[in-house]
Amino acid sequence: MDHIVKTESLTKKYGTKTAVNGISLHIGKGEIYGLIGKNGAGKTSLMKLLTGLTLPDSGSIELFGRADLNNARKNIGSLIEAPALYKNETAFENMKRFALLSQTPDGEISRLLELVGLSGTGKKKVKAFSLGMRQRLGIAVALLGSPDLLILDEPINGLDPAGIKEIRDLILELNRTGTTFIIASHLLDELGRTATRYGIIADGALVEELTPQELSAKCRALIKAVVHDAPYAASVLTRLHPDISLECVGNEIHIFSAIEDTSVLTEELVRNQVRVYELKIESKGVEDFFLERLGRSYE
Ligand SMILES: Nc1ncnc2c1ncn2[C@@H]1O[C@H](COP(=O)(O)OP(=O)(O)O)[C@@H](O)[C@H]1O
Ligand SMILES: [Mg+2]
Repeated sequence: MDHIVKTESLTKKYGTKTAVNGISLHIGKGEIYGLIGKNGAGKTSLMKLLTGLTLPDSGSIELFGRADLNNARKNIGSLIEAPALYKNETAFENMKRFALLSQTPDGEISRLLELVGLSGTGKKKVKAFSLGMRQRLGIAVALLGSPDLLILDEPINGLDPAGIKEIRDLILELNRTGTTFIIASHLLDELGRTATRYGIIADGALVEELTPQELSAKCRALIKAVVHDAPYAASVLTRLHPDISLECVGNEIHIFSAIEDTSVLTEELVRNQVRVYELKIESKGVEDFFLERLGRSYE
């Protein structure tokens, strides 16, 4: 597999604090790598190392298969912490400033503003922009020069649900056309519907990596239904859901599944004359899984 990002034992210290502790990261082309960890875990520090904003104390970085990082980094767009924008200027004027380096023509600037949904802002100055609009302009700046890798640090921090959806759709759209992403977040929901892989970071170390499939397998819910006739209820559910995994325990059926909406199960049972006394979900969900991995102060 071709690696876009490869680090070996990357370590960064600030004084006595080890912010990044021996991280070996391998990210392939086309991935949306979700770096998740609570505040202070080391996400921003890792991203600063990748983009060259700081230097490592030890360990190595390879980008696009090259150790010549200065050139490789020309192919990276990043938004780390809040975007550094000129508040008294419009979106277009801001883009013009940042476009100097990549010599991006005006037509391309307009296209990027359109892409992030800011084409209608005209004479409006950035100081009058909402947080979401600023964030999107930050992403448009990061997109100058058509980078193959985008590194976004908490891109939806502080956005409302509509803003979150817009950013998420934009990420998916760019990913469809080949852009690889590393997105850091302390919120699972930010990554939940976009990441192709999760890297869990705690105390500067990469503690676990997993795909969404592996995550949902680990979070399989145990649904317990207390019914009048468990074997009959089981036969009804097996007929309706040939793939279902369940067992009968006394007057209960235990269903191992990631079914989100259990009311569907109740309805189906009742429709087939099964008396349902109780239906409860007992095992841990995705949030609980992360709570365990990241520590209780994760919210
Ligand atoms: N410039 C700095 N000087 C001193 N300590 C820092 C600096 N930047 C980050 N740290 C420390 O490194 C750790 C990781 O911080 P950071 O990478 O910002 O975490 P995250 O982005 O996951 O919230 C924290 O303990 C933080 O206080
Ligand atoms: Mg951070």
